[in-house]
Amino acid sequence: MTPRRTVAALAALAVVGLAGFAVVAWKPEIAPVRRPMAGDFAPDEVRRGATLATLGDCAVCHTADNGVIYAGGRPLATPFGTLYATNITPDEATGIGRWSKDAFRRAMRDGVARDGSHLYPALPYDHYTHVTDGDLDALYAYLMTRPAVEARAPENSLIPPLGFRPLLTGWKLLFLETGGIAPDPARSDTWNRGRYLVEGLGHCGSCHTPRNLAGAEIRSKAFAGGVAEGWNAPPLDASSAAARAWTAETLYTYLRTGLSPRQGAAAGPMEPVVHGLSSAPEEDVRAIATYIGSVMGLKASKEPAPVPPPVDRAAEAAREHPEGAALFAGACAGCHGDGAPMVAQGRPPLSHVDAVQAEDPRNAVQAILQGLKPSSGVGPYMPPFRDSLTDGQVAQIAAYVRTRFSEKPAWPELADAVAEAKREGSSP
Ligand code: HEC
Ligand code: HEC
Ligand code: HEC
Repeated sequence: MTPRRTVAALAALAVVGLAGFAVVAWKPEIAPVRRPMAGDFAPDEVRRGATLATLGDCAVCHTADNGVIYAGGRPLATPFGTLYATNITPDEATGIGRWSKDAFRRAMRDGVARDGSHLYPALPYDHYTHVTDGDLDALYAYLMTRPAVEARAPENSLIPPLGFRPLLTGWKLLFLETGGIAPDPARSDTWNRGRYLVEGLGHCGSCHTPRNLAGAEIRSKAFAGGVAEGWNAPPLDASSAAARAWTAETLYTYLRTGLSPRQGAAAGPMEPVVHGLSSAPEEDVRAIATYIGSVMGLKASKEPAPVPPPVDRAAEAAREHPEGAALFAGACAGCHGDGAPMVAQGRPPLSHVDAVQAEDPRNAVQAILQGLKPSSGVGPYMPPFRDSLTDGQVAQIAAYVRTRFSEKPAWPELADAVAEAKREGSSP
C-alpha cells in the first residue's frame, strides 16, 4: 500500500472506530474456569477436532518457525503492522487453559478474547463465525487436550492508533456478518458441505478475495483473486484465466496433493493449505472441489481442455537476455531445461505454469526467491535463491524465463518487482 492510501485507510478506520466505539465497544470478561482435563472429553470428539483443526489451518499461523505446535509467536505482516499469533495450547498462564467453551466460541465467532478485549481479524473469525457449535466444541476439546506449553507471543507492533483494540468495534460493525450458513436445498449435500468448509473453517476467501482499505474482504468480489504474503492468490471465480484447464477431478487432486497436470505445484502460502487438506477426509476435500468448481462455473461433466503444446523460444530468449540465459543454464536448467528428469517424468514444463504466463511477475519472482519446500518433506522441492542471487540476477532470470516460455509481453520493471517481492514476502 502506498503511504497516501495507508493514511487514508487509517483516517477512515479511526472515524469509523470512534463512532462504533461509543456504542458497543465494551464486552464483559468471561470468568476463568478450572483447566479441563483429557477425561472431560470423549475421544471421538477430540479426534473430530483434530481433523477440523487441519481444515482450519490453525497450526499454520499458531506455530512459529521451529517452534512448538500451537504455542504461537509466528509474526503475520499486515499493511497495518505486525501481529503475532498467540499461544492456543492449554497453558493456564500464557495459553487458553482457563478459557471456558463459551469463551472459546465467542473468540471464534465474534473475535472477543476471554478477558473481553477485541481480537484482530488476522484470526479469520469473519469465516470461523460460520462454524457450527458442534464443530467449535470439537475444536475446543482437541486444543484442550494438547500438551500445555508456556510461551508468550511478542507484543504486536501496529501503526498508531491501531494498537488500541476498542477501535475494532467499528470494523466489526461494518464488516463482520456473524451467524451460520443455511444450506441451499436446491443443491446437493456435497455442494453444501463444500460451501460450509470453504466459507467457514477453510477461510479460502481470506486469500482469494480482494480486500478494501480497511483490510476487509470485498463481498461483491468474492473469490475474484487477492494477495497473500506477497503472492497473488489467483481468482477462483468464473474470471479465472485457468478455469478452462480445471475440472472437478483436477481441482480435487490439486487440493489434495498440490499437483495438477496443467499447473505448477502449489507454492507459497497455498502449500500449507494443501498440506492440511492432504490428511483431511477425502469426502471433505471432494466437497471443497465441488463447491469451488461451481464458483468457477465448471460443468460437472466437463472434460479438461487439451493441453497446449509447450512454448520454448530458447534462441530468441538467449538473444534478448544473454545474461539471464547464462544464469538459467547454471541455476535452473538441471531441473527446468530440455530433457531435465522432472520434465521427462511428466511434471509440467515452465510454459504450462500459471506463474510464468500471468500478467504480474509476482508469483514467478517469489518462486525463485523462496523456492518450493513441502511442509511434509515429500513433494516437489525447489531450492530458494534469495541468498545466492542478487536482485538484478533474479530480474534477469525472470525476464529470460518470460521470453523463453511464454508468448506474452515482457514483464515491465522487473527490478522493482523483485525488491517489492522481497519486502512483502519476508517475515518481519
Ligand atoms: C491466518 C492466521 C490464523 C489462523 C489460520 C488461525 N489463527 Fe488464531 N489467531 C491468529 C492471530 C494473529 C491471533 C491474535 C489476534 C490478536 O492479537 O488480536 C489469533 C488468536 C486466536 C485466539 C485467541 C487467543 C487469545 O489468547 O486471545 C484463539 C482462541 C485462536 N486464535 C484459535 C484459533 C483456531 C482454533 C484456529 C483454527 C481453526 C485458528 N486460531 C486459526 C491468527 C490465526
Ligand atoms: C494463506 C492464503 C491462501 C489460503 C487460505 C488459500 N489459498 Fe489457494 N492459493 C493461494 C496462493 C498464493 C495460490 C497461488 C499458488 C502458486 O502460485 O503456486 C493459490 C492457488 C490456489 C489454486 C490454484 C488456482 C489456479 O488457477 O492456479 C486453487 C484451486 C486454490 N488456491 C484453492 C484454494 C482453496 C479451495 C482454499 C481453501 C480450502 C484456498 N485455496 C485457501 C493462497 C491461499
Ligand atoms: C532442484 C530442482 C529445481 C531447480 C534447481 C529449480 N527449480 Fe523451479 N521448480 C522445481 C520444481 C520441482 C517445481 C514444481 C514443479 C511442479 O511439479 O509443478 C518448480 C517450480 C517452478 C516455478 C513455478 C512455481 C509455481 O508457482 O508453481 C517456477 C516459476 C520455477 N520453478 C522457476 C525456476 C527458476 C527460474 C529456477 C532457477 C533460478 C529454478 N526454478 C530452479 C524444481 C527446481
